[in-house]
Amino acid sequence: MKRTLIFQTPNFINQQVKVCGWVNTARTHGKIIFIDLRDRSGLLQVTFAKDTSSQVFDLAKRLKPEWVVEITGVVQKRPKGTENPDLITGEIELLAQDLKILSEAKSLPFSIQSEGYEISEEKRLKYRYLDLRRERLKRNLILRQEVIHEVRNFLKDNGFVEVETPILTKSTPEGARDFLVPSRLQPGKFYALPQSPQQYKQLLMVAGVEKYFQIARCFRDEDPRADRQAEFTQIDIEMSFVEQEDILQIVEKMIQEVVKKIFPEKRIKEFPFLRLNYQDVMKEYGTDKPDLRENKENDDELAFLFVVNFPMFEWSKEEKRWKAMHHPFTRPQTEDLSLIKEKPGEILAYQYDLVLNGYEIGGGSLRSYKKEILETVFEVLGHKKEEVKEKFGHLLEAFEYGVPPHGGIALGLDRLLAILLKEPNIREVIPFPKTGDSRDLMMNAPSEVGEEQLKELHIKVEKQEDKNEDK
Ligand code: AMO
Repeated sequence: MKRTLIFQTPNFINQQVKVCGWVNTARTHGKIIFIDLRDRSGLLQVTFAKDTSSQVFDLAKRLKPEWVVEITGVVQKRPKGTENPDLITGEIELLAQDLKILSEAKSLPFSIQSEGYEISEEKRLKYRYLDLRRERLKRNLILRQEVIHEVRNFLKDNGFVEVETPILTKSTPEGARDFLVPSRLQPGKFYALPQSPQQYKQLLMVAGVEKYFQIARCFRDEDPRADRQAEFTQIDIEMSFVEQEDILQIVEKMIQEVVKKIFPEKRIKEFPFLRLNYQDVMKEYGTDKPDLRENKENDDELAFLFVVNFPMFEWSKEEKRWKAMHHPFTRPQTEDLSLIKEKPGEILAYQYDLVLNGYEIGGGSLRSYKKEILETVFEVLGHKKEEVKEKFGHLLEAFEYGVPPHGGIALGLDRLLAILLKEPNIREVIPFPKTGDSRDLMMNAPSEVGEEQLKELHIKVEKQEDKNEDK
């Protein structure tokens, strides 16, 4: 007999079905045993009563929470007054005829019946596979997939091509430290994991793709926070032959579509999204990501804002040099090379951030596609000619073979989801997140590796103890 998913059981009244899943709760009332059975689609009350054979009844007496079982029985309407309106199967129950115990379970290290916020995160992450049994996290997992699905459909319908770009690659400046991967075949050389697919997506514009997107994994070696993980996901977009407004509008429409389809209870405060100048926002709110909700208690209000016209450069007091406010590929709002060189602080850029309820959920820019502008920007940033050639020569060379004007944006998918799902931390919307100090407690990573492996990679690890002895 084929298995029936729990949410479908109400369609089988007075018929025999087989269901499989986990024992959510088990309680005995004299000669009746009630089990709430859970599968990925919902909960179902299963009753072992006098019609059940004594052999099956005795087996059912042993059942404990989280045991995995297969139950065959007849779907029945519940007696009047015992319906449970909170369950999709609340009108029915399954009268069990047969029971198979597929696997037993130890008692769990924590309850999975609550929302889980009260349980220590160390424990939850160590046993993430149990934590994910929790209704709230299951919901987050499924809605994450629905949002990605909607984004994919929307972008595909609008002519975008999804392209996968490499994970083993070269450093690209997004302002954080790189994660490095040693090369076995090229002794002493390292790949960098991408902080974003920035250069690849620009090269795809040179390739003539014109409209690119990717649900892209990015890696940045920075200290995690509530809205920051070392490994996170972007909805990454790049377009050719466009103005800034074209990019803002496609993002705006995409988000509107996602909210309408998946979060219809939510209200977008203003559409089209508000656009404000960086300078004005800083003056008015003292931050470049103000929370513009009318009522901050109202979780279903979504106040989007595009902050536009950022300065191209900012002065780093620590490093005593100009830094790119976004990244060096951003197009300045002037083509006057001497102005860029002499008054970098006065130049604005075609750069924009997307802010939602006080969080930066996206950022992007039009790009410099003229070689001499890009070279001038690198010069202001203090890069030596040789260094530019070594780090970005491939991009500059590519721009000599017919480069279309282009620009793009990347949205932080985890941040967007955390806000839409009313979660206080992006770890709640990432299936397998890392701890506050970037460890994976479930897999126990990072971990030490054997001498042999290190040797193959031409790496010698300076042991912490050795360091201390040196002192
Ligand atoms: P940027 O660095 O602004 O731009 O990143 C885009 C968006 O990604 C999200 N984000 C993060 N989310 C979680 N954890 C992190 N550590 C983290 N870092 C960034 C933010 C941010 O707005 N290549 C450019 C985009 C472009 O120019 O097209 C880029 O990566 O929501």
